[in-house]
Amino acid sequence: MLEYDFIVVGSGAAGLSAALHAADHGRVAVITKRGALDSNSNWAQGGIACVTSDVDSIEQHVSDTLIAGAGLCHEPAVRTIVTEGPARIDELLQWGVDFDQRENKEGHLEFDLTREGGHSQRRVLHAADATGREISEKLLAAVRGREEIDLLENHFAIDLITTGKLGFASEDRVLGLYVLKESTGDVLTLRSDRVLLSTGGCGRVYLYTTNPKVATGDGVAMAWRAGASISNMEFIQFHPTCLYHPEKRSFLITEAMRGEGARLIDKNGNEFMHNYDKRGSLAPRDIVARAIDHEIKRTGGPCVYLDISHKPADFILSHFPNIHRACLEVDIDITKQPIPVVPAAHYQCGGVQTDVNGATTIRGLCAVGEVGCTGLHGANRLASNSLLECVVISHRAVQHLMRKIPLGRQAAQTYELPPWQSGEAVDNDELVVIYHNWDEIRRLMWDYVSIVRTNKRLQRAAARLRNLKREVQEFYWNFRITSELLELRNLVEAASIIVECAIRRPESRGLHYTLDFPNLDERKPPTDTVLRRF
Ligand code: FUM
Repeated sequence: MLEYDFIVVGSGAAGLSAALHAADHGRVAVITKRGALDSNSNWAQGGIACVTSDVDSIEQHVSDTLIAGAGLCHEPAVRTIVTEGPARIDELLQWGVDFDQRENKEGHLEFDLTREGGHSQRRVLHAADATGREISEKLLAAVRGREEIDLLENHFAIDLITTGKLGFASEDRVLGLYVLKESTGDVLTLRSDRVLLSTGGCGRVYLYTTNPKVATGDGVAMAWRAGASISNMEFIQFHPTCLYHPEKRSFLITEAMRGEGARLIDKNGNEFMHNYDKRGSLAPRDIVARAIDHEIKRTGGPCVYLDISHKPADFILSHFPNIHRACLEVDIDITKQPIPVVPAAHYQCGGVQTDVNGATTIRGLCAVGEVGCTGLHGANRLASNSLLECVVISHRAVQHLMRKIPLGRQAAQTYELPPWQSGEAVDNDELVVIYHNWDEIRRLMWDYVSIVRTNKRLQRAAARLRNLKREVQEFYWNFRITSELLELRNLVEAASIIVECAIRRPESRGLHYTLDFPNLDERKPPTDTVLRRF
């Protein structure tokens, strides 16, 4: 049994920054299922939205966020996160993060701010087109420099241990978790009164996604099984521009490219976004993704195109060096030709329900970053607000935990934590079932539960997922666990939650668009969808 003051699950921007804050107070374990840089944050291209320029204001950033969120943002949470952003940016700079700068008219250096859809000002700080990598690497270096932090790579968090799950009637609180150590196949019991989930999102639930392989909804599934409230999972953001190429699936083409003047065109070179929204290519993502989906269906073509070739080549190379390189690898020269693009699942706007401290409905358990739902994003996330949320909420969550559960004798110590039971489990000799079910989930979610939904498709998806869940559960009980099986178990849980949330919203709002209810339901005030297992 290992014991820590804090356990952080996940090693993206939220997890690593939370670990750095927590290390100021006590011993910390960071558990991550693959390598420390295998995270959604590490893949983020565009940047981090924050008010840093004199011509911008907190009010404008709040207002842009609320407009994108389509009536479902929690305004106090938006205001807090936007207001606390600048202090957290200063902290990132202290941890060594290097955002691009440029000389202003007076010859002083200032941030080279870019713009993305839905922002009324240039306010996105970036490091060329690999901002997430810059932030993740610098945070990781800082984490590696702290002897209070144990970084446990290739350790898969299986399930939370809570008083509720152990059958105690007292207030539900977290006591620790079970973790699969991949190198040995052993399951460890880790004890702590303070657990921060920062496991990212669930993009891999869909056939087409901009997310890395690790994005399998682990945190939401774990929190759901532990009885935490989950909210707004119907709001999955589809990024309008994922590279369309068989050899480079999941490669994002940043929205910042449209912010710098790239135009969406059809195969004949005609711009089409103004037919859908007066903001054209810089309309919020839900609108652009639906417009592209419509164009693809209307023309029968496999994709549309994003064209920045009218800009000078040196501008393109300095702003988008990674995209230029990646596209050249598949013989697309973005300085000379348009890029074939399609929408793909990108961001989970809902998640484990939290307050603005990241606190969930289970005492001692916080959810930070994409896994959590603070109310910042509402029904549709404003581009580049998520890294901001990661750094603000990770700071607040640690302060909150220190206030509510001061260090000292751990409550978790007063409970006996049962060791993991493997029972009669044997090695799985039918791996093909795992891969088959995995593919089936991703395909059915793409066909029935993506950009445009209907009641019938949702019901069909729900029925199929019920069967799949039964099959996966049987596997889970009968075979020795592996990370593949654990991911499948989480994936089917996350998919089922998305479908259940979508069924419970009989209106179209933000990212949830259904042909059966194509308008907002104006008869009652907008409400969050909240699910709880028990
Ligand atoms: O387009 C992008 O670079 C993505 C930004 C974001 O998802 O916030």
